Amino acid sequence: MIRKIVVINSKGGCGKTTLSTNLASYYAANGYPCALFDYDPQDSATRWLNQRPAYLAKIHGVAAAHPPEGNFTRSFQMRVPPETQRIVLDTPASMKRMDLVEVLRDASAVIIPILPSFIDCQVTSAFLKDLSTEMRLHAPGAPIAIVANRVRRNARAFHMLLEFLNEEGRPPVACLRDSQCYVQAAAEGMGIHELKASLTREDRCQWQSLIDWLETGGVNAQPEAFTLEKQAIIA
Ligand SMILES: Nc1ncnc2c1ncn2[C@@H]1O[C@H](COP(=O)(O)OP(=O)(O)OP(=O)(O)O)[C@@H](O)[C@H]1O
Ligand SMILES: [Mg+2]
Repeated sequence: MIRKIVVINSKGGCGKTTLSTNLASYYAANGYPCALFDYDPQDSATRWLNQRPAYLAKIHGVAAAHPPEGNFTRSFQMRVPPETQRIVLDTPASMKRMDLVEVLRDASAVIIPILPSFIDCQVTSAFLKDLSTEMRLHAPGAPIAIVANRVRRNARAFHMLLEFLNEEGRPPVACLRDSQCYVQAAAEGMGIHELKASLTREDRCQWQSLIDWLETGGVNAQPEAFTLEKQAIIA
């Protein structure tokens, strides 16, 4: 069954492309034929895909932010190979409502990355309100996962983020540390799951709760308040 996973937040720089590319490469590397739709006119995900080494599992790319080339129709442009099982959508910081409706339609799950900062919390909180309204109309069944990104375990900002998310009733499904592994993987068209396991053990472990949420029924469960004990390995 095809599942469409939308990575979105109106806040710039919070990790949308990082999550999209890592999720797409995780799926491809683990035997789920995957397509990556890039709705950002800056083409970050497309550029990442262009860097991807040919020996790695193939990901079908769609530059959805641009009109189809030549005489092709939009629906031709949006086609994916028949074996595709997962579609990951990377989105830009701010989207027109019409595009938002398009990305949300038939979504199976929505992932919202958030950074541990006061401004990011404020902007994301406002975005969540708008998003909830649109999702009631266009993706009523799709659950939302918040992913805290670039966190440092002992930083006050991380504790404030957890407090904020728990109070909002949206505890994070995963917390990803700030790590140069993401920067290195991005430059090479890879995901952290495709880098040396010895370098990325902590990152893989942190990703597992998001993967479990997406793939083993977590999407249907009520999120529990997040405590540091729940995820011990954050640098
Ligand atoms: N967990 C992380 N550890 C270290 N660096 C990270 C992490 N997540 C993202 N980054 C870096 O932060 C920067 C912004 O991330 P990214 O491009 O994924 O954000 P974005 O939300 O897609 O931004 P935009 O809104 O501009 O599209 C990038 O340089 C990326 O490599
Ligand atoms: Mg981006």
